[in-house]
Amino acid sequence: MLDLLLKNATLPDGRQAMSVAVRGERIVEVAAGLDAPAHTVIDAQGLLLSPPFVDAHFHMDATLSYGLPRVNQSGTLLEGIALWGELKPLLTQQALIDRALTYCDWAVAKGLLAIRTHVDVCDPRLLAVEALLEVKKRVAPYIELQLVAFPQDGVLRDAQGLDKLKRALDLGVDVVGGIPHFERTSEQGAQSVKLLCQLAAERGLMVDMHCDESDDPLSRHVETLAFETQRLGLHGRVTGSHLTSMHSMDNYYVSKLLRLMAEAQLQVVANPLINITLQGRHDTYPKRRGMTRVPELLAAGINVAFGHDCVMDPWYSLGSGDMLEVAHMGLHVAQMTSQSAMRQCFDSVTANPARILGLQGYGLEAGCFADFVLLQARDPVEAIRLRATRLQVFKRGKLLAQTPAATSALYVSGRLGQIDWLSSAGL
Ligand code: FE2
Repeated sequence: MLDLLLKNATLPDGRQAMSVAVRGERIVEVAAGLDAPAHTVIDAQGLLLSPPFVDAHFHMDATLSYGLPRVNQSGTLLEGIALWGELKPLLTQQALIDRALTYCDWAVAKGLLAIRTHVDVCDPRLLAVEALLEVKKRVAPYIELQLVAFPQDGVLRDAQGLDKLKRALDLGVDVVGGIPHFERTSEQGAQSVKLLCQLAAERGLMVDMHCDESDDPLSRHVETLAFETQRLGLHGRVTGSHLTSMHSMDNYYVSKLLRLMAEAQLQVVANPLINITLQGRHDTYPKRRGMTRVPELLAAGINVAFGHDCVMDPWYSLGSGDMLEVAHMGLHVAQMTSQSAMRQCFDSVTANPARILGLQGYGLEAGCFADFVLLQARDPVEAIRLRATRLQVFKRGKLLAQTPAATSALYVSGRLGQIDWLSSAGL
């Protein structure tokens, strides 16, 4: 007897009329037309069943702090950083925990069940680190939270920077972070990359750095990151986040850089919602988009994810934990409108970030955990188009959240009608 049988689902790879059979916490079989007795049977009615959304780049210590202690009037990165500096001394552990837990509830409702969050380690009290370690423990039954030790103010700018980062790792933070473009000089930036990769190699940890998040075509720390990854044998364990300077780099140089990155099996996170608003702010017209070169990175065989980065914090006043909104923006900014590219955008908020986090048992195959989301869409492209309703969200075979289907009743010219948003039927 199965615990759960989900019938008549479409999977992200296009397979239709699929059944997913669950016993305990695991998927035991995925097959077309499978029918077997189960405690709970759900007819997906041809809708899309996806593995959960994954966010490979977030700042949970800042989330939902919008307006504290004041609103970012200019909406720029620099005012955001200044605002965060004003807010930090006012933070309390309880407020950090409360806001993070609220965000995690939002995430669950949106089918987002794994998040890699950076946590600022520049505060000598490590208040945010302790708060997010507590949150990680509390949400473990429903969200896989991975923490990155992130020296927001630069690890070498402060004589105690490296010590604080190491203390955060000692407390249980999972991943080594960095921000080389924010160190005082390019040389110090390169030195920070070397030092932090070395630290990760010594401790057997992964690396995820904010890297080259500027419009400066000569900000080239990603080159050092690829080189150190290669030198230390950290292949596949290092991620470059943002990489916005790649947008402005010389094309010839990028053709060389892509090969270095692929050789080091570097992984990449672009953050389209944030970088389309923050980059190019010193430009007049034409204005650069600023997002890293996603299609070219993918074509070079490099794993790329789209991250949310911020939700209602000093840098970004919008967002709701909806990774389909992130994919939607990424698709537009990168002009990824071919059929295969649109599907890649869906992968960039599901399977690709799952690889970056190193999630075990992720996917819709026998043996994987029974974690999945039923969407009010017939395929991944339609899911992005509609930012589709997450009808049901499952974790380890148990229902975590459900949202009623989006429908609209019409009263136009005396006509009573109902809108079927799934208008791609038959296309
Ligand atoms: Fe970030």
